[in-house]
Amino acid sequence: MSVPALSIPDSTVGFLRDGYAFISSRCDRLGTDAFRTRIAGRPVICMRGAEAARLFYDGNRFTRAGALPPNTVRLLQDRGSVQTLDGEAHRHRKAMFMSLMTVDSLDWLVEIFEQTWHSYEGLWRQFGRIVLHHQIRKVLTKTACEWAGIPLQEPEVTERAREFSMMIDQAGSFGPANWYALLKRRGTEKWARSVVDGVRDGTVRPPEGSALATIADYRDEDGGLLSADAATVELLNVLRPIVAVARFIVFAAVALEQHAGWKERFASGEQVNLEPFAQEVRRYFPYFPAVGGTATEGFSFGGSRFEAGTWVLLDLYGTNHHSGIRENPETFSPERFHDWDNNPYTLVPQGAGIVDESHRCPGERITVELIKKATQLLSTTDFTVPAQDLTFSLDRIPAVPNSGFVLQAPGYRKSST
Ligand code: HEM
Repeated sequence: MSVPALSIPDSTVGFLRDGYAFISSRCDRLGTDAFRTRIAGRPVICMRGAEAARLFYDGNRFTRAGALPPNTVRLLQDRGSVQTLDGEAHRHRKAMFMSLMTVDSLDWLVEIFEQTWHSYEGLWRQFGRIVLHHQIRKVLTKTACEWAGIPLQEPEVTERAREFSMMIDQAGSFGPANWYALLKRRGTEKWARSVVDGVRDGTVRPPEGSALATIADYRDEDGGLLSADAATVELLNVLRPIVAVARFIVFAAVALEQHAGWKERFASGEQVNLEPFAQEVRRYFPYFPAVGGTATEGFSFGGSRFEAGTWVLLDLYGTNHHSGIRENPETFSPERFHDWDNNPYTLVPQGAGIVDESHRCPGERITVELIKKATQLLSTTDFTVPAQDLTFSLDRIPAVPNSGFVLQAPGYRKSST
């Protein structure tokens, strides 16, 4: 058997319409894990599953150059970032990111997050009702900046949170909303650039080992300092994705609400299931639908041979929901992670493979730890969850529940707002 082609000439409309389900629904129909089609007129191989994840992430066979829409790249990782590098330059830069992820450093991040959450709680009580998705992005913005060595005061927190949120929300969009987000990004870049310049001219002194100090002082494999532009981009590549964890936290809140028993267990102090719960949130709920790469060498998959230059989309959401990988993938079940073998190719919301050697996300531990702490805080808060629309659509990328998750302070009266 070889990789089949879809019968229609171009799948752009189908991709936009079906969003997260685009690749999987077609693979299911064809009874395969890969198919050929065209998107925006360009031939592409869409694939899913553990074998596809291994092919895509191991051995540096796929570059990200020319493999993602330029405006998405500009809003997320951007030009000159670690994601755009390959080979030794990538490995060296990636080691810088990984040096920020020590246990002590992550403990410190989670501590700042918890303190910041509590410092906002008083305000949330005054508001009476809050939309968690909006508020948690402020908490995460303040947390990320403080942890990185750039303490922020209000109203700057609100301003930066708005900018980071726009980059995340509009990464999957086209047209005016995307252009506006790009325009706003310039302001964020100006701010981040002034911070990097400040470290380099000695007027800003971030704590040793902080993300800001590490990035500003980083020397690449040739021994040269990063250009100010590249350092700015990488600083934003630490800050923005920490704010992006907001969506997973909102989905954790949805899971606590919709799957009876977990909230009570965590409220009573149970700790052992926090990690499986956070992993299941990352597996079950949608975030990045797929990741694109261009083959740097010929490769074989599904009984077919492909040439260097082939464009491939690896289905992250569909791999997490693959019925060949796990039973009942459409059921939310943290228990499935009790005896998980840590296979690096079967849970792939943030990429697959060996993190130091591939483009797999360096921020997975940050993500899991923040979801765990937020799950604890959401389970023990005295805020309640009023009736609201918690549904989300798989054709909106990135997805989020329609209500944004409303929380209500004790004693809240509608007339008080
Ligand atoms: C909401 C949580 C997150 C999601 C869904 C996510 C998703 C991803 C994915 C899918 C990739 C792989 C892209 C590829 O293969 O080309 C990636 C890479 C990356 N992520 Fe994350 N991420 C998250 C959180 C974070 C955090 C907290 C950080 C902060 C350090 C971070 C920094 C990065 C960087 C720098 C890369 C590029 C790595 C490389 O090219 O080697 N991400 N992320």
